[in-house]
Amino acid sequence: MRILGIETSCDETAAAVVANGRETISNVVASQIDIHSRYGGIVPEIASRQHLLTIVPVVSRAMSEASVSWQDIDGIAVTFGPGLAGSLLVGVNMAKAIALAKQLPITGINHLEAHIYANWLASPPSGEGRVSKEIPPPAFPKLTRDETRGGPLVATPHLSRDVSFPCLCLIVSGGHSDLVLMRGHGQFEKLGRTRDDAAGEAFDKAARILNLGYPGGPAIERAAISGTPCLPLPRAWLKDSHDFSFSGLKTALWHLVQKEGILTNASLVADAAASFQSAVVDVLVAKTIEAAKEFEVRQILLSGGVAANKSLTEHLLNFSPLPVLVPPPHLCTDNAAMVAACGYYHFQNGQVDGYDLDVVPSLSLG
Ligand code: KG4
Ligand code: ZN
Repeated sequence: MRILGIETSCDETAAAVVANGRETISNVVASQIDIHSRYGGIVPEIASRQHLLTIVPVVSRAMSEASVSWQDIDGIAVTFGPGLAGSLLVGVNMAKAIALAKQLPITGINHLEAHIYANWLASPPSGEGRVSKEIPPPAFPKLTRDETRGGPLVATPHLSRDVSFPCLCLIVSGGHSDLVLMRGHGQFEKLGRTRDDAAGEAFDKAARILNLGYPGGPAIERAAISGTPCLPLPRAWLKDSHDFSFSGLKTALWHLVQKEGILTNASLVADAAASFQSAVVDVLVAKTIEAAKEFEVRQILLSGGVAANKSLTEHLLNFSPLPVLVPPPHLCTDNAAMVAACGYYHFQNGQVDGYDLDVVPSLSLG
């Protein structure tokens, strides 16, 4: 079953073709980072206008890179929330137009659920994407087109990523820091969330405080490489709760920067970046492991843009007593392959939407 995924919830216009919820046949992402970086953050009106300009070329390219025609596509999966209303509308309307014109079924996807399903996508041959040692990688058929015969997709051996339920999902993105218990496909229970800034938002704001540019996560990670986490910054443990809070940390960083004249010295900026990153990672890792033990899950699944952070993944892989799955970095940040992977399980469950599918900007999960 081949699904076309479409994603336009924020500042990436993305389309992908995925087979059987696992095999990425094409994955096209048009990023708007260069446009928004000059404003220091995402400008919603510009984002939706940019999606309008790029959605048709991006979908066409995903189809041509997959070497498929519309007859080869079995369904369309599109993000309908949460996200920016104007941005979501472009993807949802594109998906409905294709569905109507090509008589294909459509399913609306929760962006947060899609982030989790990035963990189902098979590891690329490069070995990117982390699977902790406890999980043996079973053989899984990879679908590739046999160009010489011009025939149908054929199976070749490929590594896959095995997920065992119940599992605990940590979704850390620009808008969310959610701990979600997943008991099966489509069965989610939210255990914790951020009470103020999301983890990615905190990285973005900290980078602004440190004059490191946008997006903040990769900028902080780069700066932290040459620093040491030696500066005193607080950790909000929020005992007896699975919630997170990062706004106090951000404010503490701001005060430290003012008091210590950090911006005048590049090595102090590096130390501040390393200290901030360490404070976020400590809390995310400790609280995730605590919840995993309490709910006796079999596995931990990391996802969302912040999961691209090496320090976070290394710490979680090192300290978790349970198997941990982390998608490769390009599948942690927004993409449509994860939307298509999630769509496959929706269609398997008979979850099909009508042409009245609408955007839900404040949609939550569990
Ligand atoms: O999932 P995502 O691409 O979009 C949303 O759904 O929000 O996440 C974007 C967020 C941004 O806040 C960005 O700064 C953060 O993910 N991010 C990172 C890294 N790469 C992206 N944060 C920390 N370390 C990274 N390497
Ligand atoms: Zn996202």
